Amino acid sequence: MQIPELTAYLNGRFAPLEQLQVPVLDRGFLFGDGVYEVIPVYSRLPFRLDEHLTRLENSLAAVQIDNPHSRETWRTLILEIIRLQGFADQSVYLQVTRGPAYPRNHVIPTKVEPTVLIYADPLTQPSPDLVEQGVAVVSAADIRWLRCNIKATTLLANVLLRQLAVAEGAAETVLFRDGLLIEGSSSNIFVVIQGEILAPPPSHLMLTGITYDLILELARQHGMAHRVCEITEQQVRDADEVWLTSSSKEVLAVVSMDGRPVGNGQPGPLFRAMYRHYQQFKRDVMRHKEQQA
Ligand code: PDD
Repeated sequence: MQIPELTAYLNGRFAPLEQLQVPVLDRGFLFGDGVYEVIPVYSRLPFRLDEHLTRLENSLAAVQIDNPHSRETWRTLILEIIRLQGFADQSVYLQVTRGPAYPRNHVIPTKVEPTVLIYADPLTQPSPDLVEQGVAVVSAADIRWLRCNIKATTLLANVLLRQLAVAEGAAETVLFRDGLLIEGSSSNIFVVIQGEILAPPPSHLMLTGITYDLILELARQHGMAHRVCEITEQQVRDADEVWLTSSSKEVLAVVSMDGRPVGNGQPGPLFRAMYRHYQQFKRDVMRHKEQQA
């Protein structure tokens, strides 16, 4: 395994990522007992940091891990990790597990110190070609648990579902449960039907993306018709446009699903408009933050 030279943070210590180790009895390792966040950073400025920290706090509370840090300390640690990297556009990975405990036992230990890991990779943004051409997806039945609103590290089902897409040379697996659209294996999904943007309603069955919220905010700001409502599998298959969103993918057009074209098989006009609004929003926020700094 080759690990690039990245400075990471583990439990109070900054050090090269390759040197950091956690005990084998860490419940993150034994049970997948932890939560995480992925935060995009443009020109060393974290994007929507408060929203990510709110979601982290909610995930920690939902799995009954005591939050080891105040909002201000989280912010300081993340900004320090960003400062320590040799590149400006980053993807910050932050993980909190319940920590190490002996003996191995499902029961949550009363005395346990959470393990905190933070590091940053170079951010890989979608290439202009990908934005221009769109992506192919496959679909599958959602086999995950019923608490997908928690951003838990326990991602085995997501991993296996994503692999279905990889096997078909596709970018993502779109998940349906009981005939309804849920989300992607690591993204949220929107559809456009007759000029209206539709988004599935947040629930315990899906992770409400920070990007999902931003897309709806931008639709509101720019007067684009939109609605949060249940979306059937058939509606997705017949939609004029399908989009996928996440912090790393931003917003991408889905141009085929299960080998059949979505709409006319090209990124649609509302996707193009939303993509422009998203890029403009990023520029505006970053300019504003730079002026404040
Ligand atoms: N995944 N739904 C799922 C299941 C996800 O894993 C993600 C993000 C999203 C989109 O959330 P956001 O807009 O906040 O990135 C929705 C991250 C990027 C990951 O696991 O690496």
